[in-house]
Amino acid sequence: MIVLGIETSCDETGAALFVDGKIVADRTTTQLLHEKYGGVVPELASRAHMRLIAPAVKGVLEDGGVAVDELDVVGATYGPGLAGALLVGVSYAKGLAGALDIPFIGINHLEGHLWAAEMMFGELKTPFMALIISGGHTLMIEVCSFGIYKKLGGTHDDAVGELFDKTGRMLGFPFPAGALLDDDTIRFHEMKEAGDIHDNPIRFPRAKVKKDKLGFSFSGLKTAVLYYLREKYSNPKETLQTRSNEMQFSIPEHDRIAISAAIMEAVSDMLINGLASAWNNRYKALVVSGGAASSKFLRSNLINFARERDIPLIIPPPEHCTDNGAMIAWIAHRHFCKGNTSLLNLQVDPSASLFTC
Ligand code: KG4
Ligand code: ZN
Repeated sequence: MIVLGIETSCDETGAALFVDGKIVADRTTTQLLHEKYGGVVPELASRAHMRLIAPAVKGVLEDGGVAVDELDVVGATYGPGLAGALLVGVSYAKGLAGALDIPFIGINHLEGHLWAAEMMFGELKTPFMALIISGGHTLMIEVCSFGIYKKLGGTHDDAVGELFDKTGRMLGFPFPAGALLDDDTIRFHEMKEAGDIHDNPIRFPRAKVKKDKLGFSFSGLKTAVLYYLREKYSNPKETLQTRSNEMQFSIPEHDRIAISAAIMEAVSDMLINGLASAWNNRYKALVVSGGAASSKFLRSNLINFARERDIPLIIPPPEHCTDNGAMIAWIAHRHFCKGNTSLLNLQVDPSASLFTC
């Protein structure tokens, strides 16, 4: 079975080929052009997908040694994501499927993240609990079985990656800032271990959601970081009319490293608190995915959390945590095996839900 998967929900243009049980080719390009804008510019993302999608597909066919007329099925992310960006991938996939007279499958992006770990670790046994931490989502999910998903709790405001990107911008980082905050945090802990610095004097508040509710809130942390920076450092643009995305401060590197670490520590504590409340021993594993799950700091804290409680923890390698075409090809093959295909009039759905119960 040969499956082409296409991912264009946000700022990664991805194509991948699944051939007889494994991913044999995967080309995912991150659109760096958004860096200077402090976030993804939807119109520019769509145009970049238009430019990148055909070479990505041609590239994976070459890498996999597959002729286009050997494809059995084409899957593409239909939501959630940016409408214009989704349209590029879905239209391309439908055009190709129509021309080749093969099935097309619309894939929910979050379902791709949920099962991405299978590409490396083999079949995930259900029921399992998943935590998706990405730029657009922070969700705890009960995966009852393939296709049956229940929401356990999510963020009431910002997503984890969004918080990293927004606070990272205040610290002067380009977009996306998550990996840079993470690098700072690792440096902070290396310096601490070497005895060069002591405990972090900065501690941001950890928001708690109501006792009987599962979920997270990160906007208070974002505001706390902003107030802290306003009090301690000057904003070079403060005299101008400033929009919130222009709140950048002049911070000495040494201070910035401690602030980055304080942000990551607060996020890590909140995530682990949420997981501890939602975890149930009947789950066969805890699966963590999404771009922010590439964080070395979060991964190491999650490993410790799972070890202490004897929870089997599964996290895909970083390149399969961030958006990629491979997870879409993978999940398209899963659906195709179950006989699920989509009509060629399927619409993109920017706020597509994953939940079935
Ligand atoms: O899953 P993803 O690639 O795209 C969405 O579906 O949103 O996640 C992107 C997010 C961004 O907010 C980015 O800052 C964050 O993942 N991210 C990281 C790291 N790499 C990407 N956050 C922390 N540490 C990283 N190494
Ligand atoms: Zn994603």
